[in-house]
Amino acid sequence: MTQARAALVRANEIAPSLEDDAEDVVAGLTVPQKRIAPKYFYDEAGSQLFDEICELPEYYLTRTERSIMERNLDEMAALIGPRAAVIEFGSGSSRKIRQLLDNLDGPVAYVPVDISEAYLTDMATALARDYPDLQILPVFADFTRPFDLPSYTVSPSRNLVFFPGSTIGNFERAQAQSLLEVMRHEAGPGGGLLIGVDLKKDPAIVRAAYNDSAGVTAAFNLNVLRRLNAELDADFDLDGFGHEAVYDALEGRIEMRLTSLRKQRVSIAGHGVDFLADEHIVTEYSHKYSQDEFAQLATAAGLEPVRAWRDERALFSVQYLTVPS
Ligand code: TRP
Repeated sequence: MTQARAALVRANEIAPSLEDDAEDVVAGLTVPQKRIAPKYFYDEAGSQLFDEICELPEYYLTRTERSIMERNLDEMAALIGPRAAVIEFGSGSSRKIRQLLDNLDGPVAYVPVDISEAYLTDMATALARDYPDLQILPVFADFTRPFDLPSYTVSPSRNLVFFPGSTIGNFERAQAQSLLEVMRHEAGPGGGLLIGVDLKKDPAIVRAAYNDSAGVTAAFNLNVLRRLNAELDADFDLDGFGHEAVYDALEGRIEMRLTSLRKQRVSIAGHGVDFLADEHIVTEYSHKYSQDEFAQLATAAGLEPVRAWRDERALFSVQYLTVPS
């Protein structure tokens, strides 16, 4: 327990609190297309709402990914091979990792990488209890930029970067490529990547996933304004904004928006920000890929697509890529 705590490594610069990001938030709201970066979603309430999203009937992503994993773990484990070190990007509360660890052949280390120190510490503690033979080496870092890996006491036969949940889709395509390049760098020559990628499909299915009838996604989206009110001394009227999730077929992505329901002025960290009626803030993209598009992106990032598993409706995919040695 204290071991996991002591092992926590801060591997690159992270703003320690929202206050230090105030300028970033204000800058995003004072350009023509207003934006709030998705990383601000995940305070405690946001993380909890996100866990609820994953259970929604319309939100096919989590459960489809889980079942693809379940059905193909033997083949995945065979491709990954024995004594892997598993590096998880954006581990969050990570329940998915157990499913993988339980099926790999003698994994030697688990390296969760996250910007939430609390999540990292809690998860490392829980995992250390259940996996006494595994080195658990949490890294406190922003995974979009290269970071130093901790040193292993038992050396692995290869690094496996694990990135489930189609989080790759939350990056614009050019950024997704540079993130794949960071992953390639962290995995190193001969390493592998196992990535969950949401696929292009009937837009009606996609739209429903981000416009659930219970309104959980709306609550999740609006939570970011509540957070700015609490932590940046903003005065957003939570009834003055509405959740919208629009599918842009040309870009192949869902755009999550917070739309101003009237003309209004909001104050944030001492700055006044004006909204027209119907003007929206973009809070998140979720890009969808065809199999070919993703393979092209991976190839452009210097990776070799090896295998992609899908469900029978081809809603979602789990992709295995390798780094040339
Ligand atoms: N990456 C997943 C997706 O794009 C999960 C996710 C991230 C998400 N942010 C979200 C889901 C906001 C719903 C709303 O679907």
